[in-house]
Amino acid sequence: MKLVGVISPKGGVGKTTVVANLAGSLTRLAGVGQVSVLDLDPQNGLGWHFGQVLELDQTGVCRASVTGRSPWSARVETQLGVDYLPYGWAAESEREAFEQLLTSDIDWLGRLATERPDTDTEVCVVDTAPGDSAYLRQVLHHADMVVTVLLSDGGSYATMTDLEQYLSDMLVVRPGVPVLQVINQVDRSERLSRDVTAAMTASLEEASAYVVVHRDEAVAEALACQSLVAQHAPHGQPSQDFDRLAAAVWRQLAS
Ligand SMILES: Nc1ncnc2c1ncn2[C@@H]1O[C@H](COP(=O)(O)OP(=O)(O)O)[C@@H](O)[C@H]1O
Ligand SMILES: [Mg+2]
Repeated sequence: MKLVGVISPKGGVGKTTVVANLAGSLTRLAGVGQVSVLDLDPQNGLGWHFGQVLELDQTGVCRASVTGRSPWSARVETQLGVDYLPYGWAAESEREAFEQLLTSDIDWLGRLATERPDTDTEVCVVDTAPGDSAYLRQVLHHADMVVTVLLSDGGSYATMTDLEQYLSDMLVVRPGVPVLQVINQVDRSERLSRDVTAAMTASLEEASAYVVVHRDEAVAEALACQSLVAQHAPHGQPSQDFDRLAAAVWRQLAS
């Protein structure tokens, strides 16, 4: 199973949105049942995109792992044919124990990728908490591909150099891990968004190094309706953007 880690130094930039909609678009390329999503963010926001409401006390990968069970025991099948591994409900002490486990057992995610009990799904897209964390370190240690998410605003642009430096430091032992930049919430009608997008893409140089996702109210509406953008507004711009992102990821994983 190939792991695609979605990361960002910042919160609220669209990581979870990208994970969910990328997984949906990848399912159309890889086939139903071939894509899973893993939520490594204690905020548990990922399931909502798939119509999954976390039940009170629901066991996810956090509790399963700290009690010595396989994270796959927490698997939930979604209507869209994407397998969902929730972070799960966790008391503060369980979250702390899980983060300690991830820090001391750096192979946790590597085992998850090889330990799938029944059929083998092709790709697992991993959501992460913002910034440096035990979750991010697992992802950078094991991901076959890293997708970074930034907004087309001044704040994100200011963090870009730091992000590149951080990634090159963290991936120094794993050179060649492909990194794809998502520039999210691009609004061509706003000068700042246009200018920041132009500056970001100029610094990335290669067109294959980034994918633009446009700002569109259908993205937020889809979340409110607990569905993916492709279901909510199949012919809209963001739906096409996520398909382009999935095609770029799929191409990279195959190469
Ligand atoms: N391209 C977009 N257009 C419009 N709204 C977006 C877009 N991407 C994300 N959003 C909205 O931004 C908010 C934050 O997104 P989210 O994926 O939760 O960010 P993160 O996981 O990085 O914290 C959500 O309300 C989401 O619907
Ligand atoms: Mg999130």
